[in-house]
Amino acid sequence: MNDEYSKRIEAQDLTKEPPTEEPDRQYYFMKKCREIVKKKSEELGRPLTCNLTSFGCQMNARDSEKLCGVLEKAGYELTDSEEEADFIVYNTCTVRDNADQRVYGRLGHLNSLKKQKPHLKIALCGCMMQEPGVIEKLQKSYRFVDLIFGTHNLFRFAQLLSAMLASEDMIVDIWEKTDEIVEELPVKRKYFYKSGVNIMFGCDNFCSYCIVPYVRGRERSREPEEILCEIEKLVEDGVIEIMLLGQNVNSYGKNLEHPISFAELLRRVEKIEGLRRIRFMTSHPKDLSDELIEVMQHSTKICRHLHLPLQAGSNRILQAMNRRYTKETYLALVERIRHAIPDMAITTDIIVGFPGETPADVEETIDVVRKVQFDNAFTFIYSPRTGTPAAAMENQVPPESVHESFDKLLLEVQKTAKSRAALLEGKVMEALVEGVNEQDPAFVTGRLGNNMLVHFRADRRLIGKTVMVVLDTCHGFYYTGRMVDWTSQTGHTRLGKMVDNQWLN
Ligand code: SAH
Ligand code: SF4
Ligand code: F3S
Repeated sequence: MNDEYSKRIEAQDLTKEPPTEEPDRQYYFMKKCREIVKKKSEELGRPLTCNLTSFGCQMNARDSEKLCGVLEKAGYELTDSEEEADFIVYNTCTVRDNADQRVYGRLGHLNSLKKQKPHLKIALCGCMMQEPGVIEKLQKSYRFVDLIFGTHNLFRFAQLLSAMLASEDMIVDIWEKTDEIVEELPVKRKYFYKSGVNIMFGCDNFCSYCIVPYVRGRERSREPEEILCEIEKLVEDGVIEIMLLGQNVNSYGKNLEHPISFAELLRRVEKIEGLRRIRFMTSHPKDLSDELIEVMQHSTKICRHLHLPLQAGSNRILQAMNRRYTKETYLALVERIRHAIPDMAITTDIIVGFPGETPADVEETIDVVRKVQFDNAFTFIYSPRTGTPAAAMENQVPPESVHESFDKLLLEVQKTAKSRAALLEGKVMEALVEGVNEQDPAFVTGRLGNNMLVHFRADRRLIGKTVMVVLDTCHGFYYTGRMVDWTSQTGHTRLGKMVDNQWLN
């Protein structure tokens, strides 16, 4: 897969003007970067290194893989150590204020690092850069940053990098919006066996608390053929699990020239041979169709896990949030899903402290948690985001007054999650081995279809394979278990290393 990109880079002629067409233009600049990086590393007598941190969601992480793809082609060696790196990139998030604060906090540290190592280069990109006021603040108080760009021009990273390498000034390039989708750029995956795949960009929902539509722009779906082709290539390259990514995957394809539903896209993805598992994120409850439930019900590859953000249980608050569903319709939807697919794990996101929310409103949310019995829930304290309608509402709730309600909700969430997890104790389930256990290297960690983790004794050569595991003990949010050969015809459970229907040893 990577070779194809290297060939495209090699084909560029640096004695000529850069091509005007994308993505060739970027391949030209990758070649240019490669020459500069090579020269610098010859001067230093060692490779140039780069460290990249993602601060945001799965889409942010996928963008980071694209950035790493370009960095690698430009000749950088990727390192886990910020201290040792010659180039540091922060791919930022701004969904809540604490995400911004984490970046500002770490920038203070980078300032002192750069004083020790003046040749250190620093780049900031991602959603926070699209937020009004941030660039002005960085230009005023963080002059040591070398390159700043946003979400809409991420595909131009090679060009911006080459400008940064040739200049001592701060380079800032932020686009207000884009309707361009530039494909076919190099990607360096974090995991060889699983990958995210963007199916759409941006969001048109404008939930009143949310900054994402402002920093990611209008909703744009990729052509189904492009998506299928990308997944086929990934599978050829060893990927067995994919996660289809979009802020609201259920509205995928509606605005394409030849509209197609998300359910239909899934049907086509399912047919890709060699692909074992399909996940997707995120489903907006208002757009989850019966067609999608049916496709999930009959699929052998779609994981039994649905992330279905609730945000709030009170109809008054849901309306003020512009979520366009009610407590009753949400509950009815969950009922339909559980009826069709009883083993479906359902997780959610909840916000507490939205303007005007009272403890009685939070009780409504807790009521939904009790009724749905979520397998897990991410709970957030509302964070006002400048420019969103909710931030301008008059009835803001002081964060200190929401702690009691928040703790009560959290307790309920943990209770239901634990009781859901306990239901699977003793069951045999398929796990995808994701890595060596951090505490004990004789153990590996596997992810179940329902997104829960199981730790069991096994060889690290199983990483990236699916195996059957008995979930011996439930520890609340994870399991410990044993690998089994459940296909054994002996009538006994054989313990050992069974991989994709073959014994390893
Ligand atoms: N597109 C996804 C959500 C992306 S943001 C969806 O619609 O579900 C991830 C989560 O962050 C949201 O589900 C929400 O719970 C939370 N969130 C978004 N904006 C927030 C804010 N201003 N304050 C607190 N939490 C917020
Ligand atoms: Fe934000 Fe709502 Fe869009 Fe999700 S659907 S990204 S919460 S505006
Ligand atoms: Fe994701 Fe954060 Fe941007 S949640 S879309 S990285 S604001």
